Amino acid sequence: MNILLFGPPGAGKGTQSALLVEKNGMKHISTGDLFREAIKNKTPLGIEAKGFIDQGKLVPDSVTINMVKEALKSTGGKPFILDGFPRNVSQAQALKTLLVELNLKLDKALFLEVPKDDLIGRLSGRRVCRDCGAVYHISAKPLKDGKTCDSCGGQDVYQRNDDKAESIATRLQVYEDSTRPLKEYYKGQEILTEIVGTGDESDVYARVKIAMNS
Ligand code: AP5
Repeated sequence: MNILLFGPPGAGKGTQSALLVEKNGMKHISTGDLFREAIKNKTPLGIEAKGFIDQGKLVPDSVTINMVKEALKSTGGKPFILDGFPRNVSQAQALKTLLVELNLKLDKALFLEVPKDDLIGRLSGRRVCRDCGAVYHISAKPLKDGKTCDSCGGQDVYQRNDDKAESIATRLQVYEDSTRPLKEYYKGQEILTEIVGTGDESDVYARVKIAMNS
């Protein structure tokens, strides 16, 4: 089953995707992770994307759609999770065309809803391992020893530039203006399921699994 996980910044898309990869062997396609990898490697794509991302704005569609096309071509036949793409209706229309071209199908669009105050707390407290990308939270999911990544032993667990207060505000606004309308779009395609994204990770995961199996 191929799914799209979408919702506001900090809703837990990356966290739930990691659980789906671990327990179901799915392929995770996260445009945010792909951009961060390109920035780390200082590729032309990364250099172009960095300014937009640090400010909390969307990277232009043309760049993003080409990147997703390459990722979809390299799933190796595994079921995939799209996380962070599409992020507006024009990207959703481009995705529809891409899927036809690649003979793939999107089975479900799962929308994670979390109240705004919780989102701000999750984003401002998030920490990420620079080496393996594991995601933590200073209170909900702290590092066991306070400084070393529990997954890979990496010593550089950092706060994303776009998790600072100013960027968070822009990202939440961009979400309201551009991404929330996708709910109506996927309702129209008859593949939308709304999921309550509060509670701990395992509660949310149980709801995701129910939605996938329904
Ligand atoms: P991206 O990385 O996709 O950012 P996002 O969509 O804003 O989502 P986040 O990664 O912030 O949050 P998440 O929902 O994955 O939450 P997480 O699981 O980490 O994109 C970054 C930027 O790249 C964009 O702003 C844009 O500039 C650009 N970009 C990306 N895609 C693009 C596109 N298609 N077009 C154009 N530009 C694009 O969890 C967050 C925190 O909460 C963590 O600390 C976690 O531990 C904690 N947490 C998770 N679940 C729970 C829970 N149940 N209870 C308590 N805490 C929890």
